[in-house]
Formats: sequence, structure tokens, C-alpha cells
Amino acid sequence: MSNNLITSLMTSSIVQTFRSHFSTSPLLAFAPGRINLIGEHTDYQEGFVFPAAVEQGIWAAIQKNDTGVCRLHSIDFDEQFTFELEAFSPKKGHWATYSMGMVALLKQAGYPVGGFDMVLGGNIPVGSGLSSSAALSVAIGTGISALFGFQIPRKSIALYAQKSEHLFAGVKCGIMDPYASAFGVKETALMLDCRSNTHEEIPADFGHHSLVLVNSKVKHSLADTAYNKRREACEQSVRILRAQFRDIITLRDVSRSDLAQVEDLLPAELFPKAKHQITENARVHRAAQALKSKDLNTFADLLKASHESLSKDYEVSCQELDFLAEKSWEIDGVLGARMMGGGFGGCTINLVKNSAIPSFKDQIAAAYAKKFGIDPDFIPVRIGDGASLVSPLIEGR
Ligand code: GLA
Repeated sequence: MSNNLITSLMTSSIVQTFRSHFSTSPLLAFAPGRINLIGEHTDYQEGFVFPAAVEQGIWAAIQKNDTGVCRLHSIDFDEQFTFELEAFSPKKGHWATYSMGMVALLKQAGYPVGGFDMVLGGNIPVGSGLSSSAALSVAIGTGISALFGFQIPRKSIALYAQKSEHLFAGVKCGIMDPYASAFGVKETALMLDCRSNTHEEIPADFGHHSLVLVNSKVKHSLADTAYNKRREACEQSVRILRAQFRDIITLRDVSRSDLAQVEDLLPAELFPKAKHQITENARVHRAAQALKSKDLNTFADLLKASHESLSKDYEVSCQELDFLAEKSWEIDGVLGARMMGGGFGGCTINLVKNSAIPSFKDQIAAAYAKKFGIDPDFIPVRIGDGASLVSPLIEGR
């Protein structure tokens, strides 16, 4: 099905749901999920990442209701939730938390958010690691900004989305996911510097190859705790390393040529984590260069090296992701593959020759089902634009 068709089916169902619940016509905002080519777990150490927005995402249909309450309806959960603007408390684990989180932060920043009705829906596969929560927050921020005429800059929406995740979902994530959702550009990857929060756009041209995501369909429950622990380990390393490297602010400031000295200074359990940060930043730069010069073999070798570092040094992979990546490396026509995102489940990202995709899928599906008894999903990736209002549907308001 073409993306235009999917978009028009999704948007018409969301708008119809809105009309049937609230009897008015909404404004419609869209924000995409994201993939990440390389640069994993480096964003919260002010490092470099290389994400892109995908065509799948979240839609928020929204309209003022001139009351002091916000009435929400989730299509995916088939549930309603109402909260009062003057008295609400976002609770971890509830789908409405992301809406309340964005409202709380916008109000705190001085934006006079009024009562609204909102319907939320989307087509990002659940638990796939394509960052549906960042897309949700960015869609909500984009919708509220347009509805009340706030003109909130995209970067601020991304930063509010990140803060909302910290405060209300309990994950101390970096900026990568909401940034990619806000700034994505069709057929383009964003080489993002997570210190300055600025990016370079690099055409994502893979020639006769395509990106294919394999969804492991597992999500190990320790993921959020382990994520926050990795972040703390990096912060601890920085504190220790400052004895010698006085000017460093984060591990981003340490270069590969300092690795031997870093190893001497850090305790054995911290060194591999710091090593991942330092080597991964170098890989992102090399991968961006390789993509620019269409050197796909070098690019793909870096994917593999990234996986090994994430699995062995950073320890955020799991047996299912290791199996999928390692199997992929053996298959003819696969240039490279690695786990993608926070880890402990979700997807691998694979660069596969177009003519080899059907046999790649067959071999991966058979091997994964045999080993784990799970039929993996294959998610097509097309790199799309970042968050926007979906204008054709504003007609009829
Ligand atoms: C999650 C976080 C991101 C990033 C990735 C790992 O997706 O939300 O900020 O840290 O994990 O690269």
C-alpha cells in the first residue's frame, strides 16, 4: 500500500473518530517515529547520532473546547481520559501521561494552554523501538502549538518531549528520538550533534540496497532500569576521568587516542561502557563520511562494529537481537546489520541488497522461529519528513 493511501486512511479514521466523539472538526498534527543508522546510547553523553524519521507515526486530532478540561481518546487503547487543567497528575505507565506531561511542561514554560479535545492514533508497531512515545509527545506539542497559535520552535517541542519522558515516564533518555521526529527530512539522515542540538542533513542513498527492520517481538522488562544505569555509569566515569582529563564535560570529549589512559583510570566494570561511548562517536563520524561518499561497504562494517560494541561492551543487547544480527551477517546480499535503539528487544536494522530481500526474510524468519518459537515481523523503512500539520483535513472546520 502506498504511503499516501495509508496516510489518508489513517487520517480519515482519526478525524471521523474525533467527529463522532466530540461533534466538532479538528486540526490534525502528525509526528513520525524514527530509525537510527548508527550512534547508539551516545545522545545522553552529548555525543553524535545518525537518525532519520520514518513514514509511520502518530496523529493527534485536536480542537479547543472552551472549558477547563482536556478530553482525550486513544484509538489504540479504545479508551477515554479526562483531566482538569488546574489539577492533574501524570502517572507513569498510562497512555494519557504523555499528553499531561506535554501540557504540564508547556504551562510551566508560560504557554496559556486552554481546554481541548484530542484523539490520538498511529501506525508505529508497538514495542518495535521506533520511538512511538517521542512521536506521540511531538505530535501533541505540534498540535497544541498550532491550535493555540503559540508558534513553539521545533527544537523546543523536542526538548519538552525529552523532559516529559524524564519526569513522567522515568526514562532518562537523550534528545535523539524527539529531535528526529521533529526535524526529519524525506530520504535524508540527520547527523546530530547532541551537545549543540544541531544537525547536518545527509542524503540516505543506499543505491541497490534497502534498510529492512526485523522486529524481534521481545521487550525485556529490565530495559528502563538498565537504560538509566548505563547513563549513571557514564556519569560516574566522567567524574573519575576528570582527575586526569580536567576539561571534559562528558565522554564525548574523550578521544580514541586516549583509550589506553582511560583504561588505566577506570575500574574494570566501567571501562567497557566508556569505551563504547568513545568508539561509537568515532563510528558515527566515519559512517556519515562513508554514506556521503557512497562507500556502503565501510558503512556496513561500521554497523557490525557498533553491534559488537553494544552487545559486548555496553551490554544492552539480548540473545534474540544477537541472534538476529549474527544470522543476518551470514546471509548473502546482507551488507550489514545491528541492533537498533535502546536495546533489550525491539528491532535490528539491516542493509540488504534489494534482489536478496525475499530470501533474507525467508532465512531470518525460519531461523528465528526455530530458535525462539517467534515469527519476527519485517518492517519496511522509508525515510520521511518530520512533524507537521496535516493540512488537507483542516478543510471543513
Ligand atoms: C532510546 C532513547 C534515546 C537513545 C536510544 C539509544 O531510544 O530514547 O534517547 O538513547 O535509546 O541510542
